[in-house]
Amino acid sequence: MKCLGIESTAHTFGVGVVDFNGSILSNEKAVFTTASGGMVPHEVAKHHREVCDTVFKKALEKANVKISDISLISYSHGPGLSPALIVGKDFAKRLSQDNNIDIIGVNHCVAHLTIGTLVTDAVDPVYLYVSGVNTQVIALASGKFRIFGETLDIGLGNALDKFGREAGLGFPAGPVIEKMAIKGKYIELPYTVKGMDVSFAGLVTKTKQLLDAGVSKEDLCYSMQEVCFAMLAEISERAMAHCEKDELLLIGGVGANKRLISMLKKMCSSRNAKFYSVPLEYAGDQAAMIAWQGILEFRAGKRIKEIDIYPYERVDDVEVIW
Ligand code: ATP
Ligand code: FE2
Repeated sequence: MKCLGIESTAHTFGVGVVDFNGSILSNEKAVFTTASGGMVPHEVAKHHREVCDTVFKKALEKANVKISDISLISYSHGPGLSPALIVGKDFAKRLSQDNNIDIIGVNHCVAHLTIGTLVTDAVDPVYLYVSGVNTQVIALASGKFRIFGETLDIGLGNALDKFGREAGLGFPAGPVIEKMAIKGKYIELPYTVKGMDVSFAGLVTKTKQLLDAGVSKEDLCYSMQEVCFAMLAEISERAMAHCEKDELLLIGGVGANKRLISMLKKMCSSRNAKFYSVPLEYAGDQAAMIAWQGILEFRAGKRIKEIDIYPYERVDDVEVIW
């Protein structure tokens, strides 16, 4: 049996095919980008409408399957930008109705977590989920993924992208910042950890001021990474101690960053814990994770009554029934 997943919560429109045994057969996507930075919801939706048929065809071709080989369609029902979510939902609904295939809607953030344990050897880790919108430390406790710590304002990816927009680095800025940081040196920036939570807004404001004052972009890139990543290492370590778990799994688009990976590895090895990071292809938004999450929930008996979107659904709103 095979599931076709559809992702469309934000910048990425993706289609992936995953076998019920966990083999990922294809994972195609098209990503909305702008030189100026920022995402206008209706422009993103327009992009998704333009690319959806092509991405779908490629995903079937790559997986070497026909639509009649698909037993389940899974779409990301939230959280995300409503106009973008609607494109994915409508696409999934049409495929399901035209071909008489079961359909299920899943939470995008939960899918980021479960693809992590599918593609790594992690079993019951503390998850550090760092994407554009989200920065959360999560662990499974009493049947739900609980958020033990999170950003009090913006996600780290957005913080990097905001700085990137000011500095003219384009969108998304994370990968550019990573490259520029190699040539930078350290200057002090605000380090804000409150219990298990972090905050980035003040730091972004400070970097803008320093940029205006003529401080080099490379130094700001380097320092921003050092300070933000150290904050994440601190709260991850605290959550691991609190939950008594000895595995850390890094997920989300910012998880592609090699400096972040090396800092977290060091922290884990100092406490005899195992560190896992999700391979690049599965770190950011894509649809294989949506297909896999659909499989998990469908196999556990979940069926949906309405084909709908939930733009504000949180990871701890979802009952872990699988
Ligand atoms: P969410 O999962 O919360 O909906 P999203 O869709 O924005 O968020 P992802 O695709 O997981 O998230 O991540 C995108 C973010 O990752 C962007 O903000 C981008 O700047 C950042 N990013 C990508 N590569 C790197 C990198 N090498 N270093 C740092 N940040 C990176
Ligand atoms: Fe995401």
